[in-house]
Amino acid sequence: MEKELQRLKEEAEKELEQICEAQHLEPFRVKYLGRKGGLLSGAMKQLRTVSKEDRPRLGALANSIKQEIESLFEAKKETLSLPVASARSLDTSLPGRTLPEGKLHPVTQVMEEICSIFEGLGFAVAEGPDVETDYYNFEALNIPPHHPARDMHDTFYVTDSILLRTHTSPMQARIMENQDPPLRYIAPGKVYRCDSDITHTPMFHQVEGFLVDRDVSFADLKGVLTSFTHNMFGKELDLRFRPSFFPFTEPSAEVDIACVICEGKGCRVCKRTGWLEILGSGLIDPEVMKMVGYDPDVYSGFAFGLGVERIAMLKYGIDDIRMYYENDLRFLSQF
Ligand code: FA5
Repeated sequence: MEKELQRLKEEAEKELEQICEAQHLEPFRVKYLGRKGGLLSGAMKQLRTVSKEDRPRLGALANSIKQEIESLFEAKKETLSLPVASARSLDTSLPGRTLPEGKLHPVTQVMEEICSIFEGLGFAVAEGPDVETDYYNFEALNIPPHHPARDMHDTFYVTDSILLRTHTSPMQARIMENQDPPLRYIAPGKVYRCDSDITHTPMFHQVEGFLVDRDVSFADLKGVLTSFTHNMFGKELDLRFRPSFFPFTEPSAEVDIACVICEGKGCRVCKRTGWLEILGSGLIDPEVMKMVGYDPDVYSGFAFGLGVERIAMLKYGIDDIRMYYENDLRFLSQF
């Protein structure tokens, strides 16, 4: 009897496994689980014929086999009743769904291009903190408290002595005080100023560059910056060095390039001048050299600070710098 029950169980399991259409479920149920004439019900009835000692054990076995088959049957029923896409609703000629592809922000792309041009000229890359001390942002750059040049920076202060750096020039002092010349570095990064119009944003990017060695002259600065602009924009673009003032460089110059938006004719971006300022530069002031422990009679150097968004505006002919930060995908996906 025990063997017969096990055989019945195996047979039912095998048969149930092979069922793959709902219409075959009912015949299976009638065959094995039906009250009248079902094979398992028949086996239960036969228990009457076994000895009294064996009946409880065999009865329990028959019951558990019946329950097992019932639950396998219910599970199969559920699987076969799940909705399946019918062959007609599936159109295999439709194109697949494509995921939108992300790209680097245009300012990041230009930043990477600027860095690789300077790396090609032998400059190493260093990065520094966005949240800076008053000392590195101003004092180490020959801008003591109450110096009028502080006004030009429209600074966001965190505390009286901590601020969001207003330029990347603090990296000059940070690197020079830890290393001896000769040095040739660029320092790219974000800077912050309370300033906003078509050529200014409150957060923008600069790339600081500086070189310190013996006998460095203004001609070296002009050579490096001219080589950079020719690499970035091509040789045809006009470039001008305009005398300027920075407390940390002497002499100082700002570099303008011919406005590509109006081709030098004058527009709202270049404020009708035909030129757009892209960087500040000069020979490192002897006072800055002394503060980091260099002897200005032995060493000299040049430094410059490039506005990355301005370069990106000229490169792509964008007439409002704020468009870079409006997160409009129609604009950004063009680059
Ligand atoms: C400076 O920040 C100096 N640290 C540059 C420097 C470095 C001079 C080393 C000498 C030696 P300036 O404030 O001019 O200088 O800014 C440099 C460039 O950043 C500008 O030429 C301009 O291209 C860009 N810039 C300035 N303010 C903004 C702004 N709010 N939004 C976008 N670009 C700006």
